[in-house]
Amino acid sequence: MEIRSDFFGKSLLTLMEYTPDEIAYFIDWAIELKRLKRAGIHNYYLKDKNIAMIFEKTSTRTRCATSVACLDEGGHAEFLGKDAIQLGKKESVKDTARVLGRMYDGILYRGYEQKSVEMLAEYSGVPVVNGLTDDFHPTQVLADLMTAKECFGKIRGLKMAYVGDGRNNMANSLLLGCVRMGMDFAIGAPKNLFPTENIIKKANEMKDNVSIVLTEDPYEAVKDADIIYTDVWVSMGEENQPGIKERIESLTKYQVNKKLMEATGKDSVFFHCLPASHENGTHYMEVTEDVFESQNSLVFEEAENRMHTIKAMLTLLIGGGRK
Ligand code: CP
Ligand code: NVA
Repeated sequence: MEIRSDFFGKSLLTLMEYTPDEIAYFIDWAIELKRLKRAGIHNYYLKDKNIAMIFEKTSTRTRCATSVACLDEGGHAEFLGKDAIQLGKKESVKDTARVLGRMYDGILYRGYEQKSVEMLAEYSGVPVVNGLTDDFHPTQVLADLMTAKECFGKIRGLKMAYVGDGRNNMANSLLLGCVRMGMDFAIGAPKNLFPTENIIKKANEMKDNVSIVLTEDPYEAVKDADIIYTDVWVSMGEENQPGIKERIESLTKYQVNKKLMEATGKDSVFFHCLPASHENGTHYMEVTEDVFESQNSLVFEEAENRMHTIKAMLTLLIGGGRK
C-alpha cells in the first residue's frame, strides 16, 4: 500500500475536518503500518522529525502511543508535562504555539479547552493533533474504527451503542465519527447527560444514511448493536465538580453487565477507551469484571491500535509520506 502525501501540513482537531474517504484511508494505512511492524519492516517516515507532546492531563495510552510511534519511524517525541513548561502559568497558548512552531515539526496536545488546541494549530504553523480535550477525543475514535474494521471486516452497516455519560468527549467523538462513517449509533443515558443540541445538530449534518437514537432506556439503546461502548462516568478534570455523586447514582442502571450484553440479540463485542473502573469494590463500575475480562472484550486491541493509528496520523500529517 502506498503512503499518500496530500495530508502533509494538516492538523487533526476534531476528525470532522476529514471526509469519510480520508478517514477510511487513515484506518487502512494504520492496518498496513501494523502489518509492517509485525513483519519488522521500518520505513522511517518520521526521520529527523521532532514532535512536542503537551500533556495538561495525565495519560498512559496516548503518551506511550505517540512516543513509540515516533521512535519506530525514526522521529523524536518530547514530553512536556503540566508542571514542566510555562504554559498555563507564565505563558499564553498563543505564545507557546509560536515558540514550539519554531522548533518542532508537529505538536500533540492533551488538555481542557478545545479552543486551546485550535489556537495551537492557528498560531504554531505546524500540524497539531488533538490528544483529548474536554469536548473531543478524535485519535481514540480512529483506533476504535480500526478495531471495528479488524473485527467485522467493515465499518459501514454496523451499529454501535454507547451507554453511560452521553455528553463527554468520547460520546461526542464517537457519535460524530461513527455516523460519518456509516454506522448506526445509539446513546443510552439519562436525559441530562445527552449530547448538547450543537453536537446532535452536527451529527445530523455529518450522518451518511444511518440512524441516530437517543434514549434513556439502556436496553432500547443496545438492541441489535454489534458493539457496546462505555467510558468512565467521571472524566479527567470533573472529579471535584458539584453533583458528581448524583451523576454516578443516575448512571448505575447504565452499567455494562452480562444482561445488557445479551440484550443486543447478537454475539456483540465490548469496547472501552480505557482507563476503566471494572473491579469489584471500586466506588463505581461502568462495566462489570466478567464483561471486561470476557472473550468479547476488545479493549486491549483498541489500546494497541492507539499506537498504529497515531503512527498513521503522524506519518501522514508530519512525515508527509516521505521516507
Ligand atoms: N484512552 C486514552 O486516551 O487513554 P490515556 O488517557 O491513557 O491516554
Ligand atoms: N472521558 C475520559 C476519556 C479518557 C480517555 C476522560 O476524559 O477522562
